[in-house]
Amino acid sequence: MSEKPWGGRFESPTNEFVEAFNASIDVDARMYGEDIAGSRAHARMLCQQGILSSEDLDAILRGLDQVSAEIERGDLEFTIALEDVHMNIESRLTAIIGDAGKRLHTARSRNDQVATDTRLYLRTRTDTMIAYIRKLQGVLVTLAEEHAATIMPGFTHLQTAQPVTLGHHLLAYVEMFERDAGRFLDARKRMNQCPLGSAALAGTTFAIDRNMTAAELGFDAPTRNSLDGVSDRDFIIELLAAASVCAVHLSRLAEELILWMSAQFHFIDLPDAFCTGSSIMPQKKNPDMPELVRGKAGRIIGGLVAMLITVKGLPLAYNKDMQEDKTAIFDAFDNLQGSLRVFGDMLPGMRVNVEALHQAASSGFATATDLADALVRAGVPFRDAHEIVGKSVGYCIKADIELHQMDAAACQQIDPRLTAEMVGALSVEACVAARNHIGGTAPDQVMAQVALWKTALENNHA
Ligand code: ARG
Repeated sequence: MSEKPWGGRFESPTNEFVEAFNASIDVDARMYGEDIAGSRAHARMLCQQGILSSEDLDAILRGLDQVSAEIERGDLEFTIALEDVHMNIESRLTAIIGDAGKRLHTARSRNDQVATDTRLYLRTRTDTMIAYIRKLQGVLVTLAEEHAATIMPGFTHLQTAQPVTLGHHLLAYVEMFERDAGRFLDARKRMNQCPLGSAALAGTTFAIDRNMTAAELGFDAPTRNSLDGVSDRDFIIELLAAASVCAVHLSRLAEELILWMSAQFHFIDLPDAFCTGSSIMPQKKNPDMPELVRGKAGRIIGGLVAMLITVKGLPLAYNKDMQEDKTAIFDAFDNLQGSLRVFGDMLPGMRVNVEALHQAASSGFATATDLADALVRAGVPFRDAHEIVGKSVGYCIKADIELHQMDAAACQQIDPRLTAEMVGALSVEACVAARNHIGGTAPDQVMAQVALWKTALENNHA
């Protein structure tokens, strides 16, 4: 009974199952560093404002150092009886330093405490996430440079459409991840406001200095409204949204890697260290990492949906429902970071079957659009050109040849405007080289983009 910091008005102890069900220590223990940093800033501010004596402040700072060291050594055993990281730390502090520890919670509530800790923790995690995104972008840019002129089929509807360069294809993902990093940065800007001092919901009767704590904890400013400060969870929703979009991008890349590694495509091989075998089929080498990354998108998006629904309709200010926020965001961040890391480590070891890619681009009439463009250049209206090339493709399918293998007689028979020179000039190399404008697939363009990305990533932004 007496163990509970809030036990004063209670006559009977907490139900045993409720104690465990209510506790969040298993989830929030990882914020101990942020909780201690917040307490240090709060105590210094209380002392500066004459609310706490300098002897008490000294004791608190020393005590917090010890608690921190104990946690880091694994010597402090957290207990569900003390619910969460905030009360576990405060209780240990008080056990070490006595009454001064009991004064720390002056002008503070767990409501502003948890809101502050979570922002601090996620701020660091967001920076790390962005670093992992940058690393993966760097890996993709290196691969794109290597394969600036590697020709592969470009698909629409997963049907061969036009030849593209593998470098161009990979840089498409670099663009997606750039926007993902931007979404994290953007969310980080908005969340970097300090709720400390909002207290339970209405603020406090003490003459606190919120600018001081906000500055000491690296926030841009204190939050402007105490009710909002303790009850806002949209920073978590925004981070989950950013994580979800990034996970969706990773899942698209994952899906392509899985397809490309199949015997039917045979475009790539992933390093053994990132694949597993089958216990029954000896020939199997499974792309488990891309599959798992593709799967992670599901739970990350699940976290976003869970948080949106948890916050929907919640009255102001703090409600215990909000304790669920950390499960969702920590799980999403752990899994997204893991996904980014595993792709960043795996892709440099990817073997690209350049011949198979070229072969695939050379079949399936990927050059058909370029033949139509050649007819247009000779004065044929585009719709007629489309029709002529369509007939040519039909002819080639029957004759089991490619467009560039059509002879003069065949061309003349299909349409007098179609010439052997036109079909003879068709090649996948010419197709990609011709798309030489901003955003085009030409090797020159890929190299230009690679150069831009290298500079941007070296400066750690784009
Ligand atoms: N463990 C709680 C959470 O994560 C901390 C805040 C609890 N506040 C309260 N008034 N019960 O949300």
